[in-house]
Amino acid sequence: MKHLLSLEKLPRAEMESILSAAVKMKKERGSSKQQPLKGQTWAMIFTKSSTRTRVSFEVGIHELGGNVMFLSPADSQLGRGEPIQDTARVMGRMVHGAIIQTFAQRDIEVFSEHAKIPTINALTDDEHPCQILADIQTIQEKLGPIQNKIVTFVGDGACNVPTSWMFAAGKLDFELRIAAPKAFQPSADLLKRAGGKISCTEDLITAAKGADVLYTDVWVSMGKEAESAERLKILSGYQINASVMKHAKPGALVMHCLPAYRGKEIDEATLEAHAQTIFDQAENRLHAQKAVLAWCVS
Ligand code: CP
Repeated sequence: MKHLLSLEKLPRAEMESILSAAVKMKKERGSSKQQPLKGQTWAMIFTKSSTRTRVSFEVGIHELGGNVMFLSPADSQLGRGEPIQDTARVMGRMVHGAIIQTFAQRDIEVFSEHAKIPTINALTDDEHPCQILADIQTIQEKLGPIQNKIVTFVGDGACNVPTSWMFAAGKLDFELRIAAPKAFQPSADLLKRAGGKISCTEDLITAAKGADVLYTDVWVSMGKEAESAERLKILSGYQINASVMKHAKPGALVMHCLPAYRGKEIDEATLEAHAQTIFDQAENRLHAQKAVLAWCVS
């Protein structure tokens, strides 16, 4: 049985196969007769707010022939403290797969162990694998193979998005630079586990030099709202704007996984100048996740 719980655990060949399938899903959208989820019902268990992840999975499941059931904590006994393993054992007898967006990585691992149905990580505190698959699809559409490219992540380098980037870099042979204040750099343990060509610096300009892609994410991730004032202060020097872009490779991509906070991690002019890439990146969530769903049941 296949699960996508993290990019750390996803073998390189499987990642490449999903990325190729995502390109095909995009090209054949609306004309493909393939319905790998026909007759299936998938559950989406989401603990946090979401626009892109929820919409792209719901549309993707429909397009692959399946039915979808969305559950927030308020709709199920999870919100009243039922253990995840009991919920998993019930769901596993009724639905064919689950997509989970929550805080603790351990919760999706426990769910997959007890439900015994394909389980997909739609975001945890540790990783955001579907986002990074869509991001790589976008880079390859625009710049060709990601191998040997330089991707610079700017901002909170210790959260789920850069972590999934790290595990991708270790497998797909591109250079990853993380520009972040000391307090927001990945741990030594994560760097060791990821392997690959990854560097961390507090110096944004050094990290931007010659980069093919400058990538950012919100400074205050969901669940970190209590740290908002401190984060905005510490991260204030890590905005992607025209003066940073001057140091990147000519024609470099600017990417943002969204939602964006203009004037914080990116300025308005830079976001609008690179809106085509950023919203292609959002659209590719649909195609990449359809590829993940089809892979799960293959
Ligand atoms: N990028 C992302 O995961 O967006 P949502 O929070 O809107 O799903």
